[in-house]
Amino acid sequence: MASDKISQLRRMKEEAAAGGGPERIARQHRASKMTARERLARLLDPNSFQEIDALVTHRATGFGIEKSHPLGDGVVTGYGAIHGRLVYVYAQDFTVTGGSLGEAHAAKICKLQDLALRNGAPLIGLNDSGGARIQEGVLALGGYADIFLRNTLASGVVPQISAIMGPCAGGAVYSPALTDFIFMVEGGSHMFITGPEVVRAVIHEDVSFEQLGGAMVHATTSGVAHFAEPDEETCLAGIRTLLSYLPQNNMEDPPYEAPKDAPGRMDAELDTIAPDEPNKPYDMHHVIQHVVDGGVFFEVHRHYAQNIIVGFARLNGRVIGIVANQPAVLAGVLDINASVKGARFIRFCDCFNIPIVTFEDVPGFMPGIAQEHGGIIRHGAQLLFAYCEATVPKLTVITRKSYGGAYCVMNSKHVRGDVNLAWPNAEIAVMGPEGAVNIIFRKQIEAAADPETERAKLVAEYRERFASPYVAAARGYIDDVIEPRETRPKLISALEMLQNKRDTNPHKKHANMPL
Ligand code: HXC
Repeated sequence: MASDKISQLRRMKEEAAAGGGPERIARQHRASKMTARERLARLLDPNSFQEIDALVTHRATGFGIEKSHPLGDGVVTGYGAIHGRLVYVYAQDFTVTGGSLGEAHAAKICKLQDLALRNGAPLIGLNDSGGARIQEGVLALGGYADIFLRNTLASGVVPQISAIMGPCAGGAVYSPALTDFIFMVEGGSHMFITGPEVVRAVIHEDVSFEQLGGAMVHATTSGVAHFAEPDEETCLAGIRTLLSYLPQNNMEDPPYEAPKDAPGRMDAELDTIAPDEPNKPYDMHHVIQHVVDGGVFFEVHRHYAQNIIVGFARLNGRVIGIVANQPAVLAGVLDINASVKGARFIRFCDCFNIPIVTFEDVPGFMPGIAQEHGGIIRHGAQLLFAYCEATVPKLTVITRKSYGGAYCVMNSKHVRGDVNLAWPNAEIAVMGPEGAVNIIFRKQIEAAADPETERAKLVAEYRERFASPYVAAARGYIDDVIEPRETRPKLISALEMLQNKRDTNPHKKHANMPL
């Protein structure tokens, strides 16, 4: 081979790797942002990245765009490894035409999506882009739609993870929104359909970039972001950790990790975590930490709808998805946001063969005009639907309250809970003792010589009769009442028993989930 051919190739590769040049890279660094290639180096196992399509250029003309044809067209695509396992990844390069997306840029992402789907490995998108490349018009819009279609077809087949590491505006938000998990970086990333300028012009509201679509807004208020990280380094490390819990695709089991924690470990502290007083709060995180391997819990959606907790952990080395009511926030009540958060997580676990463990302490669904008018009925139905439809192993531990419709919803035996356990202080009933007594004994209380004494007597009787796990256990709705300290060994044994569980839903095109 003539050496000038090799030199030419090397020059082109160097040009592609140089992105938008030193000035634009320095600007990126001044904004505390890494370049696309620096991000890939942090995200992937060392030296594992193999680039695809580094030599692709756009074919657009008009508005001066034909004067420059940057190699790679503003997005770095390829494959590599995380924890030694294959992943496909693209990183938009803001230093090249602002990472804007045109026809060629979109085709590169689509090629990667097709590879991920065909070869059954996760797809990660690092987004940092000015959106649709203005000079390419409808070709840019078509490119986005091509990506959206592939995101949708890959949903439930391979895990899809998006990190927003710069601007992500307009319709561009919908690719991340179609993926399973969104990471954002505080201060450095923004997502919105229309930016502050348009908001000001159209509806005369003044709002900053951060207030409108910053990481914490999406992590706490809109629920769009599952993770808000303080910086890019932490964000990329978070993606690696998340992947350590996920299978490569829907045909695989999640990765087993040899446990250091004994499967038979009893934990006496669990006996005292849930207070005897039914209305006294406690932190369900402590229950989770005392039960799972090494106390390690990887929480998802940590800042959003904190009255429900979701995330991943391991039990005797096997990955589980945890859904838990949180009595420390709004008494663990189920409201609209908590229902949607729980439903989405359950459906992810069910897609990817991750058993679901539910820790239940729930006073019921949230009452009130705002909730009713906001659609608590249809949103609560989403949580119910997700539990009913899931066919992975499903375990429940009732740690205290299980009242009303929430009893049915939170993976009860009736919705195909496989193993349902309760602690001895569990209260399972249509409603709490005070409310129940006021309704069914109203006349008797009014007629009593001392109504308050009568009410207290009836409440005590009701609590004794109904607010316990034993009526449910007598019917087999609860498989066993256990000492709290036994929770870990009981759950591990149940998971092992369910290891080969096979369950199916009736054949259909797809269900009509109550969205
Ligand atoms: C072409 C773009 C571009 C775009 C940025 N650039 N956005 N080129 N199309 N959409 C270019 C700039 O011209 C500039 O080129 C370089 O990228 C960096 O941009 P700056 O403006 O200098 O950077 P900054 O000040 O950091 O501002 C970033 C920004 C701003 C906030 C993203 O560029 C911006 O507002 N861009 C337009 C955003 C937008 O409205 N996009 C369309 C959204 S609608 P030079 O050569 O000077 O370095 C959409 C529809 C998708 O995306 C539809 C899907 C259904």
